[in-house]
Amino acid sequence: MTNNTFKPDFLWGGAVAAHQLEGAYREDGKGLSIADFLTLGNANKPRRLTDTIEDEEYYPNHHGIDFYHYYKEDIKLMAEMGFKAFRTSIAWSRIFPNGDEDQPNEAGLAFYDKVFNECRKYNIESVVTLSHFEMPYHLVKEYGGWSNRKLIDFFSRYARVCFERYHNKVKYWMTFNEINNQANYENELSVYENSGIKYQTGDNKEQKMYQAAHYELVASAQAVQIGHAIDPSLKIGAMLAFCPIYPNSPKPEDVLFANRAMDSRLYFGDVQVNGTYPNWLQARFRNNNWDLDITSNDLEILQKDTVDYIGFSYYMSFDAKYSDHLDYRENEDLVANPYVKVNDWGWQIDPVGLRYALNWMTTRWHKPLFIVENGLGAYDKLTDDHKVHDTYRIAYLRNHIEEMKKAVVDDGVDLMGYLPWGCIDLVSASTGEMKKRYGFIYVDEDDYGHGSLKRYKKDSYYWYKKVIESNGSDLS
Ligand code: BG6
Repeated sequence: MTNNTFKPDFLWGGAVAAHQLEGAYREDGKGLSIADFLTLGNANKPRRLTDTIEDEEYYPNHHGIDFYHYYKEDIKLMAEMGFKAFRTSIAWSRIFPNGDEDQPNEAGLAFYDKVFNECRKYNIESVVTLSHFEMPYHLVKEYGGWSNRKLIDFFSRYARVCFERYHNKVKYWMTFNEINNQANYENELSVYENSGIKYQTGDNKEQKMYQAAHYELVASAQAVQIGHAIDPSLKIGAMLAFCPIYPNSPKPEDVLFANRAMDSRLYFGDVQVNGTYPNWLQARFRNNNWDLDITSNDLEILQKDTVDYIGFSYYMSFDAKYSDHLDYRENEDLVANPYVKVNDWGWQIDPVGLRYALNWMTTRWHKPLFIVENGLGAYDKLTDDHKVHDTYRIAYLRNHIEEMKKAVVDDGVDLMGYLPWGCIDLVSASTGEMKKRYGFIYVDEDDYGHGSLKRYKKDSYYWYKKVIESNGSDLS
């Protein structure tokens, strides 16, 4: 690395997830996943998690943007932009349609061979998440999702099959996408997407979340062990949603509270990097007399098989105000930050927070970092001559890259790459909309799946191509 830019092998690219773009939800033996039961919502109306697929409802993930059939064209467009890396996920339910079979589905495996081969054709590194909000629905129905210890074995089998099959094509892996979103255990959608749990009346939601998260953390560590045994050159990372939580004021209670809020969202990283539960959390388990199923063998696995790097998403920062409790509840304790703007979905836009995030994690974990999501969800307009003038997106990305550069150059952060989210428009995870767009590539499709599905290059496409070509020097 020269002293004023990124290292020469910096991984510029973009990121997506299987269930948000592939479509083909029943093709080639794919089983139903939890995402197939999420209806369309919007900024004011949450998505519904239905028990069956209801005729009168629309399920946007069934169709995605039909990447399943367009992958060649889409990867070619990314290659033309100069991508060095492309992050996607494997849909677990394509490989193990129900999740508990002994043998994988060959047609599902063959699809990802084609995707990863296509990337290799253009020297694009595939960066792969094993579980990105898309576990097989059967595991929810029959086993209660990650509230059941058996899931560790099912996930390990799935991870082994993927590492064995693809280790020559994929070097960079992550286990669970944004595993820490479920820390917001009152949010039904987050808990469902992470752990496939639907609360029952009388559940202690927090305790249930910690139990499920524990099984996932053990499964994640076990996957690291399996992957490294198959191929020691694999880099297997965590994947965290990083939202800095600022204290609302210098009042000591606010500061202590904001720190605890950060701890409670990010303890997942402590376990995945340090291999142990932090003291404050052990005390919380003890003081609540929660009888969690955490065995000494589990603790050994966590200790032994820690991650190689931290992948993370960064979209926004939060501002927390202490009231009367130290345990942070995202639905109650956040206030608006007057120093930052928000996007049309109320997400606070805070580029400086990205530099804060990079420094915070470096100081705490001393691991290479990888920005595997960042971006602006916005309403785009396709003009009559098929252009999208998304100057707002360019401004957002430029401001974030400038802060990321300061973190690397001035602060010495070890950063592996930058993969903005939804490099091609896709279905939103939180709302199911298509009109919440992030892409450099516009997809002609509306919220109900109507449209030609044609792909068009936005202004940001040409801008990002220049950024990559210049290794981040030209942000104009
Ligand atoms: C992250 C997820 O939370 O944010 C993605 O990993 C998601 O799956 C992205 O799409 C943006 O969120 P949304 O709700 O705007 O799609």
